[in-house]
Order: sequence, then C-alpha cells, then structure tokens
Amino acid sequence: MTTPILKLAPAVEVLIIEQINAEFNAFYTYQAFQAHFDRHDVALKNTAAFFKKSAEEEIEHARMFISYLNKRGGSLFKRD
Ligand SMILES: [Fe+2]
Repeated sequence: MTTPILKLAPAVEVLIIEQINAEFNAFYTYQAFQAHFDRHDVALKNTAAFFKKSAEEEIEHARMFISYLNKRGGSLFKRD
C-alpha cells in the first residue's frame, strides 16, 4: 500500500465520482445504440461498430478517472 501524494479535497472527490458515473452512463447509452443497430432487423453494421467504439472509449475514460481517484487516495465507495 502506498501513501497518496496529496489527498483530494472532498468536494473534488465528489465531482470526480460524478464524472465517473457520467462516463458509465455514456458507455451504457452508446452500448444500447450499438445493440440496436446490430439487430438483424436493423442491420446497420457500420453504425453499430461506430457506437461500439464509442462505448469502449467511455469505459476507458471511466477507468482513467478511477485510476486517478485511487492515486489521489479517493474511493468510488465513499465513506462518510
Ligand atoms: Fe468520456
């Protein structure tokens, strides 16, 4: 276990957690679009591929924010 270099201010930690949730919400929305366009009765494969890539980008954003949160001593599981 390493000691955080500089712990986040609580208000900043909350904002980062909100941003992580926004990234996951964006992921879910793009993933739902991907699933829709990939249906056999829609079959817009290139559009589905576009939204799949977009969904994967949002997950990566969430992971980067989670990593930053952890580096700064924050936690997704906020304890008061
Ligand atoms: Fe994002």
